[in-house]
Amino acid sequence: MYHDFNFKDVLASSVRAAWQIEDILPPGSALDFGKPFLPESLARTAEAPGLSEAEKLVLNHVRGHEYLSMFGLVEEFILPFVLDHARPQLDGDDHQVRAMLNFAGEEAKHIHLFRQFHSLFTGSFGSDCAVIGPPAAIGAKVLSHDPLAVALLILHIEWMSQSHYVGSIRDAGELDPLFKSLLKHHWMEEAQHAKLDTLMVAELAKGRDEAGIDKAIDEYLELGAFLDDGLRSQAELNAAALETATGRALPTETAGALIAQQHQALRWTYIGSGMTHPKFVKTLETLSPAARDRIAAVAPAFC
Ligand SMILES: [Fe+2]
Ligand SMILES: [Fe+2]
Repeated sequence: MYHDFNFKDVLASSVRAAWQIEDILPPGSALDFGKPFLPESLARTAEAPGLSEAEKLVLNHVRGHEYLSMFGLVEEFILPFVLDHARPQLDGDDHQVRAMLNFAGEEAKHIHLFRQFHSLFTGSFGSDCAVIGPPAAIGAKVLSHDPLAVALLILHIEWMSQSHYVGSIRDAGELDPLFKSLLKHHWMEEAQHAKLDTLMVAELAKGRDEAGIDKAIDEYLELGAFLDDGLRSQAELNAAALETATGRALPTETAGALIAQQHQALRWTYIGSGMTHPKFVKTLETLSPAARDRIAAVAPAFC
């Protein structure tokens, strides 16, 4: 066994870590647009080509809005996936049933929180920041894949949220405190999700031979390519949101360079940082060393 996760301990941690939306986003909450929202390791706005310092900060805010919107988006398919997985096990182990239902309930709460954040952000930012979608269409496409591939994608997302917070947000004193607090509270509950996903992947992989694992990896990579197309579109939407917010139309060449540079920043944020997370790699290796090697071969393109 390469981990010591079990439903009883995860449930206990989930009960201890739980918070209410009203406590972390009370009426009257305000974002400080004088500070960055996302750390530079994810935003990569400092090196954005052709922008002034003021425009780089606006782009950082656009990226912050995109970041929480993207979590809201993926949580819209994580929620039904977890419920579908829990449904046949409802008369099984009590800790397992409660841990999985808490998982689903927390994702529903995060979707709700991020919608409230969107309203707060939009009210102060002054113009719209579009996000790829609609979530239902993206969710339907993702959920049409092999459940083991979907569970791997979700595991990658949960671990990536852990490394973002611990690696570059927790100790970043320059970030807006409210935005940082939302990330912190999200991280606290996601820590349990990563463990539950690890257990879910193990259940879904049970009894699969090498060909069955290989098929799931094929479909995980298909999902990665689908997500990557969406990220390219999102980088274009972010550039358009920046132009609207600043009132400056970027020269075609600058816009092209900015979109390419930011597309890579989004790739690292949502694909590379998950694909290369040591705990995710460990799960792949447990499924099959060949699976681990296949993902390791494509990961550099997303870093
Ligand atoms: Fe979440
Ligand atoms: Fe989660």
